[in-house]
Amino acid sequence: MNNNLANIKKSISILNKDECVAIPTETVYGLAANAYSNKAVKKIYTLKKRPINNPSIIHYSSLKQLKKDCELNKNFFILYKKFCPGPITFVLKLKKENHISKIATNNKKTVAIRFPKNRITQKLLKTLNYPLAAPSANISTKISPVLASDVREEFGNKIKFVLNGGRSKIGLESTIISLVNKPKILRLGGIEKSKISKVLNKNIKYERTNKKISVPGQSKLHYSPGIPIKLNAKKSKIYEAFILIKKRKKSYKNYYYLSKNKNLKQAAKNLYKILRDIKKKKYKAIVVEKIPNIGFGEAINDRLKRASNK
Ligand code: TXA
Ligand code: MG
Repeated sequence: MNNNLANIKKSISILNKDECVAIPTETVYGLAANAYSNKAVKKIYTLKKRPINNPSIIHYSSLKQLKKDCELNKNFFILYKKFCPGPITFVLKLKKENHISKIATNNKKTVAIRFPKNRITQKLLKTLNYPLAAPSANISTKISPVLASDVREEFGNKIKFVLNGGRSKIGLESTIISLVNKPKILRLGGIEKSKISKVLNKNIKYERTNKKISVPGQSKLHYSPGIPIKLNAKKSKIYEAFILIKKRKKSYKNYYYLSKNKNLKQAAKNLYKILRDIKKKKYKAIVVEKIPNIGFGEAINDRLKRASNK
């Protein structure tokens, strides 16, 4: 049996016992448990130290399974056809007779769902007869993990198993779009706002504040590397890590490049990895060069702003 298959089998047996397994996705690693089991979902919240009023994303592998739990609408089908599986999360109305744990949804009438693209996780989901609740596999407010080793760094031996699926290809969380009423983006992420607007043929807005639901950013210290971050910096001191969007002719040890040549998709992929690398060094602060606020740049700036909150 090859390694992946054996690891998937191991994951299944742990998940079937209502325990958590960290799973790879194309965005970031998730801390997963049986979405139909209160007992299992509770463990995610305890391990992550996640406030119970912050609902989780439910990960599916088939429309057939999703239909049992959610009301699907026209906008959903248009976006599903174009982007799934992929880094997009939909907020949908729950069916009355749904099976999802009320802890995972914080008792709401809506639920956030997505179809992850990582092959190993897709295989795992296909074999299970329940979907997986999975918030990002980091301690609440900390940097999201993009490698199996990042997850171990966050939780040590507190979690039973990390299913290794290599480095996350996107490296930034999924875009969250609510389709409950008029489509609106609740979190910027792995699919650009302009792409979604184009497919739906209207200008979809990003709504920063949503008082009822805590999406990342309501939380002041989200994505925190634990040291101060200053944005739009032109230069750095030697005791500061300097994050730059493109390579400079003259480089120093404290320079960290998000991309070679201002490629914003590449930069999004490298952001959490670089923040985590910097965190391991002894810098007193992080300063960040101005990043263009377009396309993936918008999502990067959004994460950096949240990380820079004290
Ligand atoms: O890329 C991703 O989405 C990753 C991978 C693991 O799938 N997951 C992720 O989960 O980022 P998490 O928990 O870190 O972020 C999920 C966000 C939460 O901030 C939560 O507030 C929001 O989704 N959310 C969940 N249910 C919601 C709902 N019914 N309405 C609005 N927002 C919701
Ligand atoms: Mg998260």
